[in-house]
Amino acid sequence: MQNDLAKCNDVLRNFETLVNEGKCSEYQGTLKVGVDLGTANIVIAATDSCNRPVAGVSCRSSVVKDGIVVDYIKAVRTVKDLKARLEEITGTELTSAATAIPPGIIEGNVKVISNVVSGAEFDVSNVIDEPTAAATVIGCSSGAVVDVGGGTTGISILKDGKVIFTGDEPTGGTHMTLALAGYYGMSFEEGEEYKISRENEENVFPVIKPVVEKMASIIRNYIQGYDVDCIYVVGGACCFEKFSDVFEQYIGVRTVKPAAPLLVTPLGIAMNSRE
Ligand SMILES: Nc1ncnc2c1ncn2[C@@H]1O[C@H](COP(=O)(O)OP(=O)(O)OP(=O)(O)O)[C@@H](O)[C@H]1O
Ligand SMILES: [Mg+2]
Repeated sequence: MQNDLAKCNDVLRNFETLVNEGKCSEYQGTLKVGVDLGTANIVIAATDSCNRPVAGVSCRSSVVKDGIVVDYIKAVRTVKDLKARLEEITGTELTSAATAIPPGIIEGNVKVISNVVSGAEFDVSNVIDEPTAAATVIGCSSGAVVDVGGGTTGISILKDGKVIFTGDEPTGGTHMTLALAGYYGMSFEEGEEYKISRENEENVFPVIKPVVEKMASIIRNYIQGYDVDCIYVVGGACCFEKFSDVFEQYIGVRTVKPAAPLLVTPLGIAMNSRE
């Protein structure tokens, strides 16, 4: 597993460079595309048919909250703009894409998420659970994959390569920002900027630690009764250095954070696109 994780981290670091630099790696054949409509970020990822990352684009956004589209028109426009950017970077027209939802959202909301993707002129090739998408990238066949995003903490539990449980609850990075902004008397936007700047981590982490413990308690409850010997954490809200330590101490299960945690789920969605 150590080797697999090292390989997965190489893939993720490579994808992170492609996204940050707006570059495209060499590829052949049709691209697999994944659209992640997150609470904090919208990301479109592209891989080749062997699941190698090819390119990706991302922007901050507030048009979706916890899998619910709150501004449909703007959501479609944002995905269209990102699609156009990705088509320019890859030099090809992108026609179909997979997308993902937080586990457990109701059927009607799943439909709206799909409609945003098709509204941006993609054929929707697959709709999967976010943490299940992340599990594809990590390549684990057993354990728990936890996606801590802007709005929610979601989990997929895997056994023998199959997903045997999924769940999701509304605690994410937004709740960390609210705690921080309240503590330091900042606006939400100021709190968000302060939070994501690594140089402030010493002042930030003690204030948001109770939110991390709340996330850990959600996961501890979910995994009760399941044989979970490793938890993989992904998503933007787990970027803090001590995040996994808090999980490990609180839950008592080894917790591993892959590289580029913000990009794991989007890349996994692309990998799950069905041509
Ligand atoms: N360097 C960082 N340190 C701490 N938090 C970060 C950092 N970068 C991003 N975040 C937080 O991660 C969250 C966004 O993560 P992510 O993109 O995984 O969420 P999302 O997919 O948009 O949301 P969701 O999956 O809940 O709908 C935001 O709350 C953001 O503040
Ligand atoms: Mg997400």
